[in-house]
Amino acid sequence: MSEENGKRPWVEMRGIHKWFGGVHALKGVDFHVCRGEVVGLIGDNGAGKSTLIKILSGVFPPDKGEILIEGKRVRFRSPRDAKEHGIETVYQELALVDNLDVPGNIFLGREPALVGGRSLLALLHKGRMMREARALLERLKVNIGDLTALAGELSGGQRQTIAIARALYTEPKLLIMDEPTAALAVQETRKVLDLVRKLKERDIGIVFISHTLQEVFAVADRIVILRKGEKVGDFPAAELAIDDAVKLMVGGEESPTR
Ligand SMILES: Nc1ncnc2c1ncn2[C@@H]1O[C@H](COP(=O)(O)OP(=O)(O)O)[C@@H](O)[C@H]1O
Ligand SMILES: [Mg+2]
Repeated sequence: MSEENGKRPWVEMRGIHKWFGGVHALKGVDFHVCRGEVVGLIGDNGAGKSTLIKILSGVFPPDKGEILIEGKRVRFRSPRDAKEHGIETVYQELALVDNLDVPGNIFLGREPALVGGRSLLALLHKGRMMREARALLERLKVNIGDLTALAGELSGGQRQTIAIARALYTEPKLLIMDEPTAALAVQETRKVLDLVRKLKERDIGIVFISHTLQEVFAVADRIVILRKGEKVGDFPAAELAIDDAVKLMVGGEESPTR
């Protein structure tokens, strides 16, 4: 990939508005992400971060505005549409099935109906899922340990890793992570941040949302700040101090203690 190519936005959102009844949750937001770029999306509670990324991942459409991928307008009618365009999302809620093993969770919703059957074919399929899960985790250079363990027996960090692995199975171009570390211990958080850096090296674009600004600043190349549904900042991470980011998040007039 040429340098110029690397800097052109892979995905672009233009003039995005969203209303929830009387709540104007997004007020004409522009947002873009390049390949291999980690964009930290920050803002106070209710600023519109999740709403923006839900639109980007096809959960619901914008009321106004457009989305372009590689310069071409797209319309997502569902998360499946967004996935088909290469956009995957990992949410804070660890949507794993506790009584399924690691491969079962990675391939959840993708595996043919064979799984769970007792036929020889089902058994062969299970073996293949195990091998593919192992290969995928090796590619990501993460170690889950015993892949036959049930998700319910794993730590928060292992569970989040599986959720990320599941999102990466289809080799997305863009991975959206909404508070991926919210439920994690310090050490586990560090592993997730390491994984983000590895994905960046693989030229995947990443949107990283966290209310822990230190984490965002530790991984992001660029930081976008939302306040009350408006974009109030878009800076290279190296040129923004955390204190200034906080000021932009809470706004000039308002007291941060209120
Ligand atoms: N499904 C929804 N129905 C009604 N209001 C919503 C819904 N989702 C978000 N909102 C409202 O939109 C605003 C932005 O919320 P959200 O995008 O979740 O913010 P953030 O993720 O930055 O905390 C808030 O006022 C929130 O209450
Ligand atoms: Mg949110």
